[in-house]
Amino acid sequence: MMKLGILILAAGEGTRMRSRLPKVLHKLAGRPLLSHVIEAARRLAAAKIVIVYGHGGEQVPAQLGSEDLLWCEQAERLGTGHAVMQGLPLLHDMDRVLILYGDVPLISDQTLAKMLSSLEQTDLVVLTAEFQDPTGYGRIVRDATSKVVRIIEQKDATTEELAIREINSGIMAVERSRLENWLSRIRNQNAQQEYYLTDIIALAVEDGVEVQCIKAQNPHEIQGVNDRRQLAEMERRLQRRLADELMLAGVTLADPSRIDIRGVLQAGRDVSIDCNVIFEGRVVLADGVRIGPNVVIKDAVIGENVQIFANSVLDSCEVGANALIGPFARIRPESVLGNDVHIGNFVEIKKSQVAARSKINHLSYVGDSRVGRDVNIGAGVITCNYDGANKHQTVIGDNVFVGSDCQLVAPVTLGDGATIGAGSTITRNAPDGKLTLSRVKQFSLDGWQRPVKKK
Ligand code: UD1
Ligand code: CA
Repeated sequence: MMKLGILILAAGEGTRMRSRLPKVLHKLAGRPLLSHVIEAARRLAAAKIVIVYGHGGEQVPAQLGSEDLLWCEQAERLGTGHAVMQGLPLLHDMDRVLILYGDVPLISDQTLAKMLSSLEQTDLVVLTAEFQDPTGYGRIVRDATSKVVRIIEQKDATTEELAIREINSGIMAVERSRLENWLSRIRNQNAQQEYYLTDIIALAVEDGVEVQCIKAQNPHEIQGVNDRRQLAEMERRLQRRLADELMLAGVTLADPSRIDIRGVLQAGRDVSIDCNVIFEGRVVLADGVRIGPNVVIKDAVIGENVQIFANSVLDSCEVGANALIGPFARIRPESVLGNDVHIGNFVEIKKSQVAARSKINHLSYVGDSRVGRDVNIGAGVITCNYDGANKHQTVIGDNVFVGSDCQLVAPVTLGDGATIGAGSTITRNAPDGKLTLSRVKQFSLDGWQRPVKKK
């Protein structure tokens, strides 16, 4: 088996981002740019993945470190060739090396696979593209027989060379011992006084190696991010692609340009999603789920045929089949809602289980609670779960009816079939099957007169 090592260059300063955050930690679709590249590398099943990060960029390994990644600091930024030299010793036992860029996040699996299979025929494969406007990129220089002879950087190119539209993406696949040898021979006598990785092409040609160029299928996949405008453009393009994938998988989108998937969204058949819906983390939508406009859903599993109405926010929760949520509902972490549950407007549920068919339809707060099945909680009911120091549980049995505007002062239990009269403040357990209420007696004053305004 030929061992593949992947080297990800991520030491760039990212000056044009104008940010304290290292460039590769800026987010695309909810994840750092570099994690997109790391994931692409992992999908190739490399024996080793090495990431070259920049001086002062400790945040990068601190945030993205994981057992399968090796890190290497490039203390001085002396060019792409120099960066590769820093990481290469960690790959000394590899047969082949694939060089990726931490700020080129959308590189496709197919393109990389093509490069690696091409590397079986030769020792150096370069990923290129044909650009209408090649400004800024290194150009692929070919001879009269259209054999690649070298790469010339923009800053070192002649007017003739600048007219070349075939550009270097920077991504390369190289036989490892050859790479070491070529890198030991590159010099920094060029316009930027940098060690250019691209100089290995001419050295390969000198050594009689036939350099293979693979053209990227989609020119966008080799696009890098240099400033926040490019990041935003890339975000839109990626979101559009994710929206297309969803639609092809059977999801109806009211407007494919107004959905954001910042993580992984798994959706069943006949799901429909209105405008301005944001998904974060891992979200699963079962068949037939319908989501209204301006909804935010994070790390949630939503059951079949659930309807989530406008302006609801759901975070780290599970929702059972056929439930109705919102409009304007907030479901907070560790909440589990059963089948056919109804959660209405201005209702907040936190760390609570609500069993099948129970309804909490208007203006309520239910926190740290266990609510049974077939419960009806009236408007304005509040579980008083916090005493200023600790949180306490509220347990509501099956088939309970809680009248409007009650406060349930936790810890407290309402037995099965209990009815709580409207306006009650419940501080002790309510027995099964009985009406419980706490209410000041109503009275009316005879002869009372409403005050009148003094002249
Ligand atoms: C490089 C290529 C150019 C290619 C272009 C594609 C060279 C000499 N030139 O140019 O042919 O068309 O990419 O975008 O390779 N980096 C380090 N350490 C360094 C320098 C760079 O880690 O010392 C990393 C950067 O973080 C970045 C990548 O290498 O991810 C490319 O560096 P950059 O300075 O953008 O290279 P270009 O001059 O654009
Ligand atoms: Ca009251």
